[in-house]
Amino acid sequence: MRVNDILEMIINGGVPTKKELSELIETFRRGGDIAAEIYERARGVAEALRDEHYGRRVFLRGLIEFTSYCKNNCYYCGLRRDNKNAERYRLTEEQILECCDYGASLGFNTFVLQGGEDGHFTDEKLVSIVSKIKAAHPKAAVTLSVGERSYDSYKALRAAGADRFLLRHESATDEHYAKLHPESLTLENRKRCLYDLKSLGYQVGAGFMVGSPYQTSENLAADLLFLRELQPQMVGIGPFIPHRDTPFRDYTAGGLELVLFMLALTRILLPKVLLPATTALGTIANDGRERGVLAGANVVMPNLSPIDVRKKYLLYNDKLCSGDETAEHIKELAERFSKINCVLDMSRGDSKNI
Ligand code: 5AD
Ligand code: SF4
Repeated sequence: MRVNDILEMIINGGVPTKKELSELIETFRRGGDIAAEIYERARGVAEALRDEHYGRRVFLRGLIEFTSYCKNNCYYCGLRRDNKNAERYRLTEEQILECCDYGASLGFNTFVLQGGEDGHFTDEKLVSIVSKIKAAHPKAAVTLSVGERSYDSYKALRAAGADRFLLRHESATDEHYAKLHPESLTLENRKRCLYDLKSLGYQVGAGFMVGSPYQTSENLAADLLFLRELQPQMVGIGPFIPHRDTPFRDYTAGGLELVLFMLALTRILLPKVLLPATTALGTIANDGRERGVLAGANVVMPNLSPIDVRKKYLLYNDKLCSGDETAEHIKELAERFSKINCVLDMSRGDSKNI
């Protein structure tokens, strides 16, 4: 099939083979007129699908980066255990609750608690935090992003009131996964976690970085097909950005155009998914998030962490931490999006992919 026909087949609801999808992605990556043509077509369809299911609303989530300690050693991440230059901090339960109160006063109805895999935060501690947030803000959704844990742990957190869970799969190809992570982390366990979370009734978010070292078009095709199979409610996609204190310091960042194309394809393959225009996308281009929204994204996650810790949660170099992506700048954010005819929405914004 010609790549245009592959794209039309997907637009019409067909599921491509891995070979077809990687051919489409590979053609896009080679650039030229054909790449521009397939991008414009995919982007237009993705935008229309987003409009159909969610309108021109961009949902806001308040992000609380509550611990920069991590026991893992992912090769790409600035918070990895072996990075001795990383500044580590933990918020106390009280500080986390204050962040939520502050967020609620600004109008937020979703709180995302994100952190490294930090043994300090036992089930008992997290259960207490989640229960207290839910007691103080019963109508708000609580999203956890705390990495791989046991079924029983996920179960206890769900029972405490956690509504959603973000855990990017990072790469759906075993060999590529193994190039991004040390042996202690496996794709098999990552998938186990994602399916456990789904079975427990969480709204689940998976996802991956674009342009990570060694990533091929076939890897990206496998990522999209895995998402199609998992049927998550959210999908986080952003560019890989090197961090100077990691083994991947000398690799180049993922390209804006490829991220946008992946966002558009994700919207086409999973029309009802919630799709953030990530901070990483806003980091590689000033108008990155607006362009993400124009390619089908519909979520942004402003930072609600206490100001003094924001620069310490450095997953990659030059991560945005003081501009329009912060909770203090919702007005500026609204202005940015109004220029592309989108409105900010601070309701819970549950996924329609249920
Ligand atoms: N560049 C871009 N994204 C990164 N993440 C971690 N390190 C980097 C990096 N160097 C992403 C991972 C992780 C999420 C919390 O941040 O995909 O799942
Ligand atoms: Fe830890 Fe997550 Fe960074 Fe891996 S990506 S080192 S698990 S914070």
